[in-house]
Amino acid sequence: MAVERIIDTSIHPEDNEEQQIEVTLRPQSFDDYIGQERLKRNLRLAIDAAKKRQEPVDHVLLYGPPGLGKTTMASVIANEMGVGLRITAGPAIERAGDLASILTNLQDGDILFIDEIHRLSRTIEEVLYSAMEDFKLDIVIGKGPAARSVRLDLPKFTVIGATTRTGSLAAPLRDRFGHLFRLEFYTEQEIAHIISRAANILNNRIDPRAADLLSKRARLTPRIANRLLKRVRDYADVNGDGIIDSKTAESALALLEIDTHGLDPADRHMLRSIHENYGDNPVGLTTIAALTGDEASTIEDFFEPYLLQIGFIERTPRGRRITPKAVRHIEVEWK
Ligand code: ADE
Repeated sequence: MAVERIIDTSIHPEDNEEQQIEVTLRPQSFDDYIGQERLKRNLRLAIDAAKKRQEPVDHVLLYGPPGLGKTTMASVIANEMGVGLRITAGPAIERAGDLASILTNLQDGDILFIDEIHRLSRTIEEVLYSAMEDFKLDIVIGKGPAARSVRLDLPKFTVIGATTRTGSLAAPLRDRFGHLFRLEFYTEQEIAHIISRAANILNNRIDPRAADLLSKRARLTPRIANRLLKRVRDYADVNGDGIIDSKTAESALALLEIDTHGLDPADRHMLRSIHENYGDNPVGLTTIAALTGDEASTIEDFFEPYLLQIGFIERTPRGRRITPKAVRHIEVEWK
């Protein structure tokens, strides 16, 4: 089911404007980066120590739901270290040669950001973790009887890996990361702050009450907050004088059918189907996927983490269970 959902936390690669806005709004330093305080504290220390020793920072693994700022954090780390950043993603590295060419083109101290690192093939994972361990690359040149193995020296680089799940990473690779950090959902106050900052950069006037209202519906996720802001801004430009007040925000969100908890019609449909078919009994992820027509992994990675966070569903050993709070929401507040 390929319906476009505004609350989808993946980046839409076909949407150039969205990518452009993400880059424009991306904070450059820890001081600009709102939220993730524990992570920033730990990284600041690691960076200060590495700078003092004049060494690269130890490899960093960032995990957690999409849209919470893993790529942004990697670019902040590169800026704070004053080093280059190369961005790639697990599915983009198909052959050992692809990885070899990336690694041999790095400079000493550079950061290699690998998004969706859990999607690297096992063969590539092996090449990568030996490179991460001793900064050497073993490659085979030629084929058949003439094939020979050579060992290349690599620059001392830092891998920042990003993943939605640490569980699907092979243990030897996971063990090569000196730092493992989980990105947390933001608080509503932090999201309101991110929205005001973004509106300011985009030269839009926004009433603090409107920022507050949007912050309650952005699923505690900056990527969604910025996307909502963009839609509300369009609405304010077309239907008013471009100023975003709470009335404009409210009308734009009603048009998008985003409710007071940031759920869209597909979320409500999913919760209703579970409730109607299974009541408050646990139900397996594949069954939920069959009810909604999504892939189980899409539900697990993209839509479920927020519903767990706000206590609308619970994980049990026998599957997912819808909570009374969610039932109240779909049956009474948002019927
Ligand atoms: N834009 C997106 N995420 C942000 C964050 N954490 N801080 C500031 N601006 C952001």
